[in-house]
Amino acid sequence: MSENLWRGTINQLDPYIPGQAAKDVENQGSLKEVFRLATNENPLGASPKAVAAMQQAVLESHYYPDLTSLNLRRKLGNLHGIDPENYVTGNGADNIITLVIASFVNPGDEVVYCTPTFSEYHKNTLLVGGTPVEIPTTKDHKFDLEAILDAITDKTKLVFICNPNNPTGTIVEDHELREFFRRLPKHVVGVLDEAYGEFINIPNYSTGVEFMKEGLPVITIRTFSKLYGLAGMRVGYAFAKDEFIRPLQAVREPFACNRVAEAGAIAALEDEEHKQNVLTSNKQEMDRLIKEFCSLGYSVEETHTNFLFIDMKQDTNKLSAELFKQGFIIRPCAIWGYPTFARISIGSAEQNTKLLQALKEIRNKEASQV
Ligand SMILES: Cc1ncc(COP(=O)(O)O)c(C=O)c1O
Repeated sequence: MSENLWRGTINQLDPYIPGQAAKDVENQGSLKEVFRLATNENPLGASPKAVAAMQQAVLESHYYPDLTSLNLRRKLGNLHGIDPENYVTGNGADNIITLVIASFVNPGDEVVYCTPTFSEYHKNTLLVGGTPVEIPTTKDHKFDLEAILDAITDKTKLVFICNPNNPTGTIVEDHELREFFRRLPKHVVGVLDEAYGEFINIPNYSTGVEFMKEGLPVITIRTFSKLYGLAGMRVGYAFAKDEFIRPLQAVREPFACNRVAEAGAIAALEDEEHKQNVLTSNKQEMDRLIKEFCSLGYSVEETHTNFLFIDMKQDTNKLSAELFKQGFIIRPCAIWGYPTFARISIGSAEQNTKLLQALKEIRNKEASQV
């Protein structure tokens, strides 16, 4: 078969490498339990109300979903105080990132962001023939807003800000972000990826909601995969002012958010109690893990997410292989250029206790072999 049949840019793409799926581990033989701590899923699961709503919606699977998820957009509009017309929904935030880049980036246009960050900005930019312009994060692993502004040229179309950033968990100050969006030249659109935005634990911290109301040139992307525990359902959305949301609505595939997923997302938004439980558990477990990791001699970055970016002061490819044998899946960070770091999702209390125990056992075993 000739390689020339497909588009040239495809040869530059690597398939997305996800955190190892628990199923793969379960198939590895004698493991009784598997702890998925590599993909930042919600250890408490979806709201029981969302599960019930999805079960009900399955009975209507023979009907197409609402074309543009109007009921979900209305619900989101109520939550944020934004007109439902200013949203698009999609098949996960991944799908929304693809949509934004496909709608705005012409071949030859530049897309600027810092690295390490979420890999999909890179892939989708290449896919449409754009040029990714990658700038290192600051020494404290934050998006370098000044450096991004300096990198803007006549060819720049989008700047992505992942806030909080994956994999570092860091955020930039909200007043700096506001100033950054104000300073963007007219031909550049900001894209604020707030996949983990609901975990930011700072009173009155401004997010995309406030920036949108202030009329700033920014498209905000969010997901139901993290706080709402609906990763398997694939629901993401974006909101922005009219001139930026219209192209997304034009390009979006019809029915991009399925009937069951929409029902789950709507019910999840209504379950305030579950949401608060998730946030409380995440904060408690985050504080506990940070303390314990420090006492093991690791360095832990401050995080505003449901995961930790940890310098474990050892080869984390090796460590993750050891943990894998015991059923723990973590994310070694060598692929981002941090061979001694791991990104570990904040699990349930039980999962974290077992993880800490396994780490201590591995350390003791190594010490006894020296
Ligand atoms: C920063 C960031 N953006 C977007 C996504 C995609 O989320 P979704 O599961 O909604 O596709 C992720 C998933 O981990 C992420 O970390």
